[in-house]
Amino acid sequence: MDTTRHAQPELVFSLRRVTERAACAAFNWIGRGDADDGGRAALDAMRAALAEVDIDAVVVIGEATAGEAPQPHRGEHLGKPGAVFKADIAVDPVEGTSYLVRGLTNALAVLAVAPRGTMLNPAPAFYMEKFVASPAARGKIEPTWPTSKKLSTLADILNKDVSELTVFVLEKPRHRELVNGILAAGARVALYPAGDVAGALMAAIPGSGIDALMGTGGTPEGVMSACAIRAIGGEFLARLDPQLQTETKAVKDAGLDTSRWYDRDEIITSDDVFFCATGITTGLMLEGVERSKTHYKVQTMMIAGASGERQIMTSYIPVERLASVAARDVA
Ligand code: FBP
Repeated sequence: MDTTRHAQPELVFSLRRVTERAACAAFNWIGRGDADDGGRAALDAMRAALAEVDIDAVVVIGEATAGEAPQPHRGEHLGKPGAVFKADIAVDPVEGTSYLVRGLTNALAVLAVAPRGTMLNPAPAFYMEKFVASPAARGKIEPTWPTSKKLSTLADILNKDVSELTVFVLEKPRHRELVNGILAAGARVALYPAGDVAGALMAAIPGSGIDALMGTGGTPEGVMSACAIRAIGGEFLARLDPQLQTETKAVKDAGLDTSRWYDRDEIITSDDVFFCATGITTGLMLEGVERSKTHYKVQTMMIAGASGERQIMTSYIPVERLASVAARDVA
């Protein structure tokens, strides 16, 4: 059966409601220091909004993250059971929980949807090393090259000097050597404590101010980023890079090869992908949620692979339409 038949590009407009609802639900916890409640409210809102969308989706990547943020279970069905469009889904109701609870920039509500069986399920790996760059770099840079060679090649491809390159890196102790390598090559780093989905998309979009993303981050974030980047164009390469002892053992026991680099099109094998990200706090890519007495104002990046289009849409949602969100408001 052709499960993609009913996945019209317009589906992205329905899916955008899902991340909008999650972002509005998370809004109440910005800067309030409770990651669990904020994440749970966003996840509940995401589940409820997905129940209104005509897809029968199975969570491919849920609890793969090492963080404590609430996630749906791998294998959980979301959407409408029996809907014609059978899909894989990866969601992160709050991508960048640490940003959210500290009131910092860059927290997003994110999802990616693709036809059933087309998203890589890299269980039990929580972490991936990633290399992301713009479409011009596709197929031209080996991820195993030393940092300096990757950057000098990228600079040639982009017709820039290495000193004009900016590389997004998560600010983590594991990246000390990588950051030193980037600086030694003469490029700049853009260091963020969390949020490598926004970093990956910016690296893939020419002229965004970010030329590449390097380093290790979450696997679900990697798969969602690969979906978006397959749709809009851009290089995305990744290899499993376990960071935790239990994860390392599980990956080894599963016989997974941590030296193997996956190409973007192995991580997501269909062009017919959908990606939505709504800003929770203002960041690299999107404005965060604003709430007046009457409306939530939200900004969402929508990408539909079938049309290759991406849009940033600002919505004004009447506060009374989100009664459940208001009821959860923090005193
Ligand atoms: P959350 O969605 O769990 O808050 O993840 C935020 C994030 O920074 C991701 O963007 C990144 O891929 C991952 O965490 C990195 O994990 P860690 O902080 O454990 O190194």
